[in-house]
Amino acid sequence: MASDTLTVTDNRTGNSFELEINDGTVRAMDFRQMKASDDDFGLMTYDPAYTNTAACRSGVTYLDGEGGVLRYGGYPIEQLAEHSTFPEVAYLLYHGELPSASALESWNAELKSAAIVDPSIKAIISSFNRDAHPMGMLQAVVAALGTLHPESKEFTPEGELRDSIALIAKTATVGAWAYRHNTGQELLDPDPDLSYAANLLYMMFGDKDVDPRLEKALDVLLILHADHEQNCSTTAMRGVGSSDADAFASASSAIGALYGPLHGGANEAVLGVLNRIGTKDKVEGFVEKVKNREELLMGFGHRVYKNYDPRATIIKAAADDVFEVTGVNPLLEVAKALEATALEDDFFVSRKLYPNVDFYSGLIYEALGIPTEMFTVMFAVGRMPGWAAQWREMRNDKEQKIARPRQVYVGPDERDYAGVDAR
Ligand code: ACO
Repeated sequence: MASDTLTVTDNRTGNSFELEINDGTVRAMDFRQMKASDDDFGLMTYDPAYTNTAACRSGVTYLDGEGGVLRYGGYPIEQLAEHSTFPEVAYLLYHGELPSASALESWNAELKSAAIVDPSIKAIISSFNRDAHPMGMLQAVVAALGTLHPESKEFTPEGELRDSIALIAKTATVGAWAYRHNTGQELLDPDPDLSYAANLLYMMFGDKDVDPRLEKALDVLLILHADHEQNCSTTAMRGVGSSDADAFASASSAIGALYGPLHGGANEAVLGVLNRIGTKDKVEGFVEKVKNREELLMGFGHRVYKNYDPRATIIKAAADDVFEVTGVNPLLEVAKALEATALEDDFFVSRKLYPNVDFYSGLIYEALGIPTEMFTVMFAVGRMPGWAAQWREMRNDKEQKIARPRQVYVGPDERDYAGVDAR
């Protein structure tokens, strides 16, 4: 019978080693016993950008990139988007189970009470330039929230839950305040009578009477963004959190990682691309530029998905519901033509490049009246439950230590310092 081991022969020495295979992985540390000589430190694995490294064991989210499958806590994303709500999904991610009716009621009540943000934060927001990017404000202010919660440096299960609820609730308030500051309007406190999604829209636009179809569409967008296993920003959350930095400092780092256009910032960049293309007849010319490496097709491609991103399918359907209320965004036609052209072109087909979550989300945000610079903030609000759940999981995993990768040194050998006149 085949055994779950890997036999490796080190041809430098002729020594053979038998490594255990568990869950389709071998332990990188098992290679350290393979030494070319006695004073050798042993082999390391080299994996820039962690393309083939499992850095943790996680039970939060299942992702099959080849099959285009995404599940939170075992539940298909399609079912959650149709039947659940964002706060309920946040509970599922954090606790690993869907809540009972009474647990959901108290979870919602806790989120509503935690959404209130200390008035001193308003002064910080007001001190930013009027045109400051809202992601920069969000990142700074989430870090600043930690200064109001010194107790978050003492880690207990109750404290981890308290800080996670605070982050999930307050990010919406702070994100909306960043928008209000950009537009020179009074910063509105949350209204506990509104749902999470309706409250977010209210704190941005000052209107409590939201069309339920728009409220549902935003709730679905938040659900779709709520977690995506070990992506760049979650890795930042876990990595910074692994040094025992508090939850707010860790979440602030995750927001910084999300800001980049290769990650969450892609939703903002997609709209830039669609606006530049402008009309359907310009699509082919743009695709040629992508193939000539003059442009990236933002909102396409994914490190893990080599198939249609299931979130993009759900977003496309949600877009139709939104446009029923708001009228069709003319850029939708450009986006659909761009997708169709790309999916027929061998450049994209051979590289398995499909639309990702960001390709269509911006069109919905725009229809909801949300300006482009706020798109990534909406993503951050949605992703906060995932960051919190992954952070808590990391903190309670006995195998996790401070994240500290190794390097292959390629700099100069030892040399003597020479004074400036001798150089
Ligand atoms: N447009 C054009 N070519 C692309 C694109 C794209 N969007 N994405 C990948 N490629 C090409 C690469 O040039 C490369 O081609 P080559 O092998 O001939 O050199 C090949 O496809 C493989 O791409 P990599 O860059 O190796 O893939 P990687 O896993 O490192 O990158 C990433 C993934 C960053 C998402 C990339 O696809 C990309 O830049 N996409 C555009 C930005 C984007 O939409 N980001 C959002 C991702 S989803 C999220 O974070 C929520």
